[in-house]
Amino acid sequence: MWSFVTRHTGPVKHILATGRHYSTRFGYANSRCLVFSGFGQPEKVLKLHSYSIPPPYDDIINVRFIASPINPADINQIEGVYPERPEFTLGLGTGEKSAVPGNEGLVEIISCGSKVNPSIRPGQWAIMSGPNFGTWRTYAQAKESNLIMIPDKEGISPIQAATVSVNPSTAYRMLKDFAGLGPGDYFVQNAANSGVGRSAIQIGRLWGLKSINVVRDRPGIDKLKEDLKSLGGTEVITETEAKDRRYIAKITGGQPIKLAMNCVGGESATNLTRILGHNGHLVTYGAMSRLPLLVPASALIFRNIHCHGFWISQWSKENEASKSQMIGDILGWIRDGKLKDAPYEATKWSEDTKLEELIEPVKRGISEYSGRKGVFIMEYN
Ligand SMILES: NC(=O)c1ccc[n+]([C@@H]2O[C@H](COP(=O)([O-])OP(=O)(O)OC[C@H]3O[C@@H](n4cnc5c(N)ncnc54)[C@H](OP(=O)(O)O)[C@@H]3O)[C@@H](O)[C@H]2O)c1
Repeated sequence: MWSFVTRHTGPVKHILATGRHYSTRFGYANSRCLVFSGFGQPEKVLKLHSYSIPPPYDDIINVRFIASPINPADINQIEGVYPERPEFTLGLGTGEKSAVPGNEGLVEIISCGSKVNPSIRPGQWAIMSGPNFGTWRTYAQAKESNLIMIPDKEGISPIQAATVSVNPSTAYRMLKDFAGLGPGDYFVQNAANSGVGRSAIQIGRLWGLKSINVVRDRPGIDKLKEDLKSLGGTEVITETEAKDRRYIAKITGGQPIKLAMNCVGGESATNLTRILGHNGHLVTYGAMSRLPLLVPASALIFRNIHCHGFWISQWSKENEASKSQMIGDILGWIRDGKLKDAPYEATKWSEDTKLEELIEPVKRGISEYSGRKGVFIMEYN
């Protein structure tokens, strides 16, 4: 016999005679998910699958996803070129061992088993505490340790909450942990129009930092420059302009740049090392060009540049308590209108959405010059 905590149920759908029901507090929920059972291109390996979720018991929490972003790392994971791999299991009821993709997402608590902390209640929002949960689905079962509760959802949109734990968190940590930056200091970053880059500009501004933001040239570059400046970027320059050290010195007035955040690699990373100041720190967190880092020996020998890598997944595993506090800071800025989300393209995910409609934004997820992050927005009848 299942046991439940009979608290307020929130907007949970009750069983309908039509058979197209989703969930009841006491019944089973039908979860629709994307799954993959082997690595490869998303359009070749992703399938749509449905499975039944029983009512929660003991420390189990039933949740439903509200929004799940499509991050480059999710796609790399499906391709099999990402170091973290989800667990492939028969527990989803697929014929072969499968995993649900997606690492980041926002859920609503639906119902709780009897041993769940009573402060967790139906209707509350939570995000994933770590990677590999499998967020590209509708319903799921979680434990408290899988979730970071959002104590106050007032003033925060579902997409803002769903995208808080990877990109803004990565920007926050890199700005805070590597170069001892203080008000008035300069940092430089490439792919400044990315989700991470836009967060870094805004968090940097909040902390009194000055930023040089490098983007690739494109038609409409002036509009992009204005856009990033309006977020608080001190200067926005193209990759070509970033090669000109005299131009950079004119911007900074000769002030050394203490931190460079590299999302791209290849020549773009080389340019960053050339404009970093003495004892500067180069932090690599992405490899969008898929090219190796080229760091001139002179930068290491004569300017004592320090090279680091950063990975939010690893940091999160090692810093659980600090993570909650950081998420609280970021959500506070969002609530106060001080941190705007990156442009996004929402794909509605309802009971009728077809596999091809879900795969399309995934295929676009790592396309160049897209300018928008894909996010699945789940809809429930
Ligand atoms: N290490 C970590 O902990 C961590 C955390 C978060 C993200 N990341 C990584 O950071 C990167 C950005 O993630 P995001 O979610 O912020 O991405 P995003 O919002 O989708 O933006 C992607 C960025 O990459 C640029 N880009 C795409 N293809 C490129 C290419 N071939 N050469 C140069 N630039 C290219 C885009 O610039 P254009 O507009 O010019 O195409 C854009 O600025 C990804 O590699 C992701 O895996 C790492």
